[in-house]
Amino acid sequence: MITLHGITKVYKNGPLEVQALMPLDLHIESGEFVAIMGSSGSGKSTLMNIIGCLDVPSDGSYELDGEPVQTLSEEELAKVRNRKIGFVFQSFNLLGRQTVLQNVTLPMMYAGLSREKRNERALDLLDKVGLAERVKHRPTELSGGQKQRVAIARALTMNAPLLLADEPTGNLDTKSSYEIMALFKQIHEEGTTIVLVTHEPDIAEHADRVITFGDGRILSDKRKGSERS
Ligand SMILES: Nc1ncnc2c1ncn2[C@@H]1O[C@H](COP(=O)(O)OP(=O)(O)OP(=O)(O)O)[C@@H](O)[C@H]1O
Ligand SMILES: [Mg+2]
Repeated sequence: MITLHGITKVYKNGPLEVQALMPLDLHIESGEFVAIMGSSGSGKSTLMNIIGCLDVPSDGSYELDGEPVQTLSEEELAKVRNRKIGFVFQSFNLLGRQTVLQNVTLPMMYAGLSREKRNERALDLLDKVGLAERVKHRPTELSGGQKQRVAIARALTMNAPLLLADEPTGNLDTKSSYEIMALFKQIHEEGTTIVLVTHEPDIAEHADRVITFGDGRILSDKRKGSERS
């Protein structure tokens, strides 16, 4: 699903340079559930943005679902993001002026699906995440956990094979966090590959593989029941 080879990231702001990722190799198989941990500033979000094709690496190669990403045009990249990747962020990133239903239908609008199809699919997904009663509300009228469930429904609309989540429970209380993790588990069991960044060990425990970052490097990479490096 994901193969990174010699990936680096250097942020340049005038004379200031920050090397956020040291040369990095990483392979994630289709169907894995991976948690990424590590201290603040260790490069987790930088890596997620590269995997999600939201940012480009400074060096190295990236193959997503068998396709070398660096050869794609902006337009092709946008298509890859729309079709292959669902995103969930700590801060939800919902559109405040739109209803819950509109937020969820948006990726399908970009993909050119009919209104009828969009609404049918969005209502199905909102039902799945337990928000059937809230479809006409705006995100500001929802709790944090509910907002995140809208974001998850939105991330699932295109049936993307890969779900990326950067601290999805970072703004949530314990109970909502567990509800969100139960949803991720269910989504994983249905066949979606999940890569999730978290600071919380009990959240990472839900994953089958835990990668720990430090200073732009992979410090450890452990699968449940065995140790890899
Ligand atoms: N746009 C940017 N310009 C310059 N430096 C950046 C930029 N984004 C991130 N960095 C730097 O790159 C390094 C890695 O940042 P990153 O956001 O990937 O860390 P993180 O592991 O996600 O941290 P956190 O747990 O706090 O979210 C940090 O030193 C950060 O200051
Ligand atoms: Mg981060």
